[in-house]
Amino acid sequence: MAAERGTGALLTVEGGDGAGKTTLARSLAELLTAAGHSVHLTFEPGGTLLGTRLRSLVLDPELEMSDWVETWLFLAARASHVHDVLLPALKAGELVLSDRYTDSTLAYQGYGRGLDLGRLRRLNLEATAGLSPDLTLLLDISPEAGLARTRARSSEGDRIGDADLAFHRRVNAGFRSLASEDAERIRTVDASRDAADVLTDALQIVNHWLDGRRSAS
Ligand SMILES: Nc1ncnc2c1ncn2[C@@H]1O[C@H](COP(=O)(O)OP(=O)(O)O)[C@@H](O)[C@H]1O
Ligand SMILES: [Mg+2]
Repeated sequence: MAAERGTGALLTVEGGDGAGKTTLARSLAELLTAAGHSVHLTFEPGGTLLGTRLRSLVLDPELEMSDWVETWLFLAARASHVHDVLLPALKAGELVLSDRYTDSTLAYQGYGRGLDLGRLRRLNLEATAGLSPDLTLLLDISPEAGLARTRARSSEGDRIGDADLAFHRRVNAGFRSLASEDAERIRTVDASRDAADVLTDALQIVNHWLDGRRSAS
């Protein structure tokens, strides 16, 4: 996989609904671009036309589906994203910034829905052809505060975002547990603060990590 990845790097932003992932990813992409990096900002589910269509299906509150069907729709969107967007950008040497990736599957479908984590990890490996993130920023916020932000943002239905608070608490605890198991890759940022403070912390983590890569190469 390392060879296929080329000289690029994959940075992912994770966290619950309303944590501020999209806000942070956009600002981070702007600042890193201004600093001279070739940044490719993308998101899941989405990033390709097929991914966008799958996103509207999986989030549609009018559709009922089993937890495994939900998982496979996300994985199909991911497989398309990896093949059509992530790998080409990485091979071109870009710094790829993805708003959500594999950890969301483990947190939402694993911890949130209660599906088997080992099986989800294997399916993630298959869907991504083994492409794992080099660095992940976990935006940590209480589910109550995150949901208050998303409710202020939009009145549109969201089959997963509108799930009950207990579900979002399991997702949040899941993300924390993933971060404690893999502290090297997953760096937690306190996302309850102002967007500017979140950005400052995130940028410091990313710059430190970029320095480490540069001196290792
Ligand atoms: N640090 C922050 N403090 C307050 N509001 C924020 C912060 N970050 C994002 N927001 C707002 O909260 C809402 C959800 O943010 P968003 O970036 O879309 O979260 P996510 O992508 O994690 O669901 C948006 O309306 C956004 O403007
Ligand atoms: Mg978002």
